[in-house]
Amino acid sequence: CRLIEKESWLAQVEWLAEVDSTNRFLANDPLSGRTLPALVGANAQTAGRGRGSNSWWSASGSLTFSIVFDPGQFSIPTSFLPRMSLSTGMAVRNAVARWLPESLVQVKWPNDVYVQGRKIAGLLIESHPANPNLLIVGIGLNVNNSLQSAPQQLQEKATSIIDVSGSEASRMDVLIQLLQDLEFEWKRIATASDFLDEYRNHCYLSGRNILVNDGVDEIGGLCEGVDAEGALLVRLPVGVQRVFAGTIEVIGE
Ligand code: BTN
Repeated sequence: CRLIEKESWLAQVEWLAEVDSTNRFLANDPLSGRTLPALVGANAQTAGRGRGSNSWWSASGSLTFSIVFDPGQFSIPTSFLPRMSLSTGMAVRNAVARWLPESLVQVKWPNDVYVQGRKIAGLLIESHPANPNLLIVGIGLNVNNSLQSAPQQLQEKATSIIDVSGSEASRMDVLIQLLQDLEFEWKRIATASDFLDEYRNHCYLSGRNILVNDGVDEIGGLCEGVDAEGALLVRLPVGVQRVFAGTIEVIGE
């Protein structure tokens, strides 16, 4: 923990042997004893959470942690908060791309990281219940946990660094790289005019037929990338629809 604090911009790091969920742990923490930005990581999560009602498979060898911080600490204006998902996803993508062939690592809108059509990392961004100005960013990344030991239904859908590269990566090195990439992306959220071009270059959904479910309706169409505000563009027979939130399923090339 001390080493991570020393090598990064974090004010406080706590690493647990086991917890239900690092996001839930921080959400239940009144934060009175913490200096922010603070990270809580765990070697094992017994109830890792994903977006919506999804769960997160937190196998030994993976990286699972959450960071709580005030966006003002990175000079992120409130008007740019909707960009957090895309920005954080890009940071995780860039970190993973240092261990795997660069061109294989992509962002799946809004904030997953995919390699060869399989999910390697997911993010869960929430506000803190005791102080809604604070964000809790939870990251799950499959590093040395081979999908061979995963539940059957995940094996076709997910992957890990070791499954793609064939060799183990130091979780400590990956974490330190992730922290550097997060700092870089968060600090430039309000100023980087080339961010969306970079995002488009690594966009897994572009050119694919997708189904978008926003919790109420489902629409299907060809994904034409993201627009200047980061909305997903989906071509329907009636024209192009902008999508601001939802779950995306790929149904074809
Ligand atoms: C998703 O893919 O829907 C998001 C997955 C987020 C998983 C991480 S693991 C660390 C943190 N704690 C949780 O319970 N979830 C996030």
